[in-house]
Amino acid sequence: MENEDRTGHISRREMLAGTAMAVTAMAITKVTGLEAATAPAAIQPVELAGVSFRVNGKAITLEMDTRTTLLDALREKLFLTGTKKGCDHGQCGACTVLVNGKRINSCLSLALQHEDDAITTIEGLGTPDNLHPMQSAFIKHDGYQCGYCTPGQICSAVAVLEEIKAGIPSHASADLNAQMAFTNTEFRERMSGNICRCGAYSNIAEAAAEVAGVKG
Ligand code: FES
Ligand code: FES
Repeated sequence: MENEDRTGHISRREMLAGTAMAVTAMAITKVTGLEAATAPAAIQPVELAGVSFRVNGKAITLEMDTRTTLLDALREKLFLTGTKKGCDHGQCGACTVLVNGKRINSCLSLALQHEDDAITTIEGLGTPDNLHPMQSAFIKHDGYQCGYCTPGQICSAVAVLEEIKAGIPSHASADLNAQMAFTNTEFRERMSGNICRCGAYSNIAEAAAEVAGVKG
């Protein structure tokens, strides 16, 4: 056969075919930009910055990646794992903490935004020997099943009672000029950002009503 070379040398036809394939591959790479896409990306240096705040009454200074959320700083830098990561997208409320007395979703907030802030997590509300009244009420009224949403629910419920006391209306407030009061409807509306997959809602509402001093 014409292109067979029993000595092991590549015949002219084989060489031409090989060259054509190489040229085609180069052309495809150029057109698709495949070469650029598969080239290893240059590693960007991580930008670090410092923040000082108080967490559960303790002054703390941390240096971290500027993109760190408050939730990750609490859990992974300070090992305060009572604050839970549910959705990490502001949908479930499991990560609720108090910042200067107001509740926020810590997954939606960068830690560096909290210079000089006072942050309270579930660990700072009470201790096993000295529970916050809302923690005691959750236990008494069985306001949880798996407990995963509970730290966020408790922090949120504590802040809700303060919001009502401060006269801040909600979407369920019938009369914006009337004295704000704790009602089941008010409480449920205000807690709508805290999702409990186990469905402990009625017991949570009873616990909060007891702390608010009203019948649930
Ligand atoms: Fe923050 Fe779900 S983890 S809202
Ligand atoms: Fe299980 Fe709320 S107690 S998610």
